[in-house]
Amino acid sequence: MELKKSEQGSNANWAPPPTPTSEPERVDFHPPESETHLRDYWYIILKRRWVILAVFISVLSYTAVKALMRQPVYSATTILQIDRGRINLVQDVMVQDYWSGYDEFYPTQQRVLMSRNLSRRIVKHLRLWEHPHFGGDKTHTADEQTLEDLAEQVAGMLQVTQIRNTQLMELKFTSTEPKVAADLANALARQYMTFSMEKETTLARDTAGFIREQVEKIQVEIQEREQRLQEYSQRQDLMMVDEKELLVMRQLQDLNGAVAVARTARAGAEANYTSLRAADRQTLPAVLANPTVQGLVQQRGVLEGQVAELTAKFKDDWPDLRRAREGLTDIKSRIEIERNVLAVEVVAKARVEYRAAVEREHLLLAEVESQKKEAQELSKLTTNYTQIKAGIDNQRSMLRQLLRRQSETGLSAELFEREPVNVRIVEAALVPKVPTGPRLSRSLLLGSVVGIALALGLALFLDYWETSIYTIEDLRRHVPLPYMGMVPRLDSDTASRWDALAASSMARDTDKHGKNMSQTRSALALSQSTKIASRAKEDMSLIAERFKFLRGSLLLSTPGRPPRTVLVTGPDKNAGKTFVACNLATSLADLDKKVLLIDADLRNPQLHKVFRFKNRVGLSSVLSGQTSIEKGCVFSTLIPNLYVLLAGPASPTPAELLGSTKMEETLEQCIQLFDYVLLDSAPLLPVFDSHILTVRADANLLVVRSGHTSRNAVRQSLELIDRVGGKVTGVILNDVNLADYAQNYYYSYHSYEYGTYGEDTARKVS
Ligand SMILES: Nc1ncnc2c1ncn2[C@@H]1O[C@H](COP(=O)(O)OP(=O)(O)O)[C@@H](O)[C@H]1O
Ligand SMILES: [Mg+2]
Repeated sequence: MELKKSEQGSNANWAPPPTPTSEPERVDFHPPESETHLRDYWYIILKRRWVILAVFISVLSYTAVKALMRQPVYSATTILQIDRGRINLVQDVMVQDYWSGYDEFYPTQQRVLMSRNLSRRIVKHLRLWEHPHFGGDKTHTADEQTLEDLAEQVAGMLQVTQIRNTQLMELKFTSTEPKVAADLANALARQYMTFSMEKETTLARDTAGFIREQVEKIQVEIQEREQRLQEYSQRQDLMMVDEKELLVMRQLQDLNGAVAVARTARAGAEANYTSLRAADRQTLPAVLANPTVQGLVQQRGVLEGQVAELTAKFKDDWPDLRRAREGLTDIKSRIEIERNVLAVEVVAKARVEYRAAVEREHLLLAEVESQKKEAQELSKLTTNYTQIKAGIDNQRSMLRQLLRRQSETGLSAELFEREPVNVRIVEAALVPKVPTGPRLSRSLLLGSVVGIALALGLALFLDYWETSIYTIEDLRRHVPLPYMGMVPRLDSDTASRWDALAASSMARDTDKHGKNMSQTRSALALSQSTKIASRAKEDMSLIAERFKFLRGSLLLSTPGRPPRTVLVTGPDKNAGKTFVACNLATSLADLDKKVLLIDADLRNPQLHKVFRFKNRVGLSSVLSGQTSIEKGCVFSTLIPNLYVLLAGPASPTPAELLGSTKMEETLEQCIQLFDYVLLDSAPLLPVFDSHILTVRADANLLVVRSGHTSRNAVRQSLELIDRVGGKVTGVILNDVNLADYAQNYYYSYHSYEYGTYGEDTARKVS
């Protein structure tokens, strides 16, 4: 196929839109925040209306069913009039002033009426454990647990309210059995009356009893103490403690004197003894002074004289001299012996004396000690004595006080007995005939309030967790990109690629009537051959409209001049990239411009399937140098002005091929030959093929599929594109469910922006 270079005219034909500024205007997609705040919530509610409705209806029906399933209940009411009793005349009794809290009076009575104590009394009085309504019969007996349970049950049936600004109290019992309700209400009134009467008298009686007890106790104590005091005095032999103490002190003084004397004596004896023990025994004065020894010493002197005389006269062996000498020796030894014996005696005597002195001293010291102890004991006894006496005095004065109060309380008890709290039954309960519940309207109201709260909560929660982009509103809130337009969801019958394409051409046909009939005849024939239902035909014209608008947005999207190379890409597979590329190309071809649609998705090529070609030659062949654009690898299609360059045989290195300079050259070449070049590409996230193309193309369109593509995927794609230096021109929301009210709401709300304006532009452009 030989292609002529496109005439310059095709570009010149394109007139700039009539905007106030000369710059083409982009669709600004960010209205001021404050304005949209409330609308955001409204929008969330619309979007989640099915969830909200489902939750609301389930809660409501649950409460309704619950209410309907409940047995009818009856209420019986007794009205009591409660007067406050007389003010207590005796204010300073030992009990708390009974009527001090005026404001608390009725709330207190209300609480008393609801108390477990009264419920128990009712249970006992009515013998409820035998009552069939409470699951009993005549054979049953009441143990503590049963009583307690029944009392609780009864308390649960009761409602006590004071009628405002009156002395009236309303006792209402609600039960499934009317008679039980009435019986309980009347029983409570009676029990309360007896209870409050008992309470008043017991209170006074309690006080009197308390005082009596105290008096008795104190009397006993006083008695005990007095007895102790008496015993004590007896033990001291009735002697005055003071005198006794004086005596003890004097004795102690004497003893101390004696101790001093004894200590001196002991010191003398000790000195004597030690000196005697140390001295020479032969020269002791006591020994020397002994008459026996002195006699012997005289004899020795006589004998010595004799011996001296005889020695002068006779020879040594003279018998007289010898005798005299023997006598002298004898006397000397006797003196020696005598002295020794005496010395021993003297020392022994001194020792005995010393020992005795020590003994005496010790005895005296012990005596002093014991005397001191006695003195202490005495003083202790004195203190005890005074203490006991003071205690008794104290007790006596307390007793006096108590006795006075006893008489006062006796008086007040009598007063109480005459003036109890005044309770009257104003209206006894009758057996109710009409049930008072369950009130369906109330349950329903409650159910709806709870239902709405739950539903709204859930909707907001879901919105918080939802990550998919569903609506234009989601896109606006979460994707910071210019919005190009949206493509509605097609009927599943219509959604086949062929039908969609046919849709575009058919719409064109209806648009321009006879003008381009010849060009569209084949497309028409095609659509007729596929026997499209009328509903599908509607869809098709809708699709054609939408693409016209998209075309307008696209042509205005780049400043200065419309883009000539357009890359259609998207974060994920099945976003509708091929669908959008085909339809957009068809729509552009409608402008009588030559459009080349290139399948740049080398991994998963689809264009050949759409146009029912065989994928034998295409972009991969051109890029690998096997062929070139001019050499017949571009095919014309059934749609006039629309040409396709298929992907070509699969290549092991699609990313390299697309990133090569050859690709750049090919694109330039295509621009020379065609007015518009559209590239259908591989998804951005799973493979890194088409990212580089975002730098090459004039405009990059990001296709996001409603309910399918996540916010995160969009964010990641933007990051990847940003990394290679590309820029996304705008985002297209595909597969929008227009049957969805929320979408429709938003769509119609903004329709002037996306519909009318776009259409006008598209017409002007064409
Ligand atoms: N707006 C739409 N309404 C109905 N079906 C659609 C729509 N957009 C795409 N499809 C269908 O979804 C499928 C995937 O679309 P396709 O364009 O092949 O996705 P991609 O090229 O992004 O992988 C196709 O069968 C297509 O017909
Ligand atoms: Mg595809």
